[in-house]
Amino acid sequence: MTERMIGIMGAMHEEINGVVELLSDVKEFTRGMRTYYSGTLNGIKTVVVFSRWGKVAAATTVSNLILEFNITELIFTGVAGALNEDLNIGDIVIAKRLIQHDMDAQPLMPRFEIPLLGKTYFECGHEQLITATKAVNALLETKQLHEVISDEELAAFNITSPKLVVGDIASGDKFFSYAADKHALLEKLPAVLCVEMEGAAVAQVCYEYGLPFTIIRTISDAADEQSHIDFPVFIKKISSRYSVEVVRNIYAQF
Ligand code: ADE
Repeated sequence: MTERMIGIMGAMHEEINGVVELLSDVKEFTRGMRTYYSGTLNGIKTVVVFSRWGKVAAATTVSNLILEFNITELIFTGVAGALNEDLNIGDIVIAKRLIQHDMDAQPLMPRFEIPLLGKTYFECGHEQLITATKAVNALLETKQLHEVISDEELAAFNITSPKLVVGDIASGDKFFSYAADKHALLEKLPAVLCVEMEGAAVAQVCYEYGLPFTIIRTISDAADEQSHIDFPVFIKKISSRYSVEVVRNIYAQF
């Protein structure tokens, strides 16, 4: 049996720094403007990398994880802008399916279909969904979050009782900062919970290589005129700690 080797990616430095600190016997390897930190986490071989932003950055990084490090599965943690009205800053979304909202090869292909794959959505594996759901529930249903983020910091973002939602995530090379844009997307894809810039690209590469993946996103903003203010503060103060705890809880199940 192939030895398990887990790749962990994040699109922000802040999000992966804490995860790198969980690794033992860390080695650094730099290639193509990425630094890969490999080591072990709870005895499992793991490589952690900051992917940079956007679909190309994410796709090249995951390809390198597969080809250079022979990862056997991929975990992506990061933030997203909420499309669904019931989502609040601090809630967590686990992707059940991912779609590339900027893919449009009409009239050659139906809107959103990935050319030549004949697929519009990439589905997360059942086992990965169960593991991620348990990990996030353990974080949100216990005191764990309050142990790593102060009540004042949570209150500054009105985070009172954050919840987990599992469903569709849309990715594309666009930071949503106008409510009109999010409503336009919701008209076309009403089931989408949130938007980000990497997940569906990672999912496509993983699908093409037959690799299981998990995409977990914390809501940092409402994908509207306020997002460019909420997003950087949230990343600095809150989301990095969410990522570390979620990863810890995932590994606790291995
Ligand atoms: N990631 C976090 N917030 C986002 C937004 N508003 N648009 C796209 N990606 C995001």
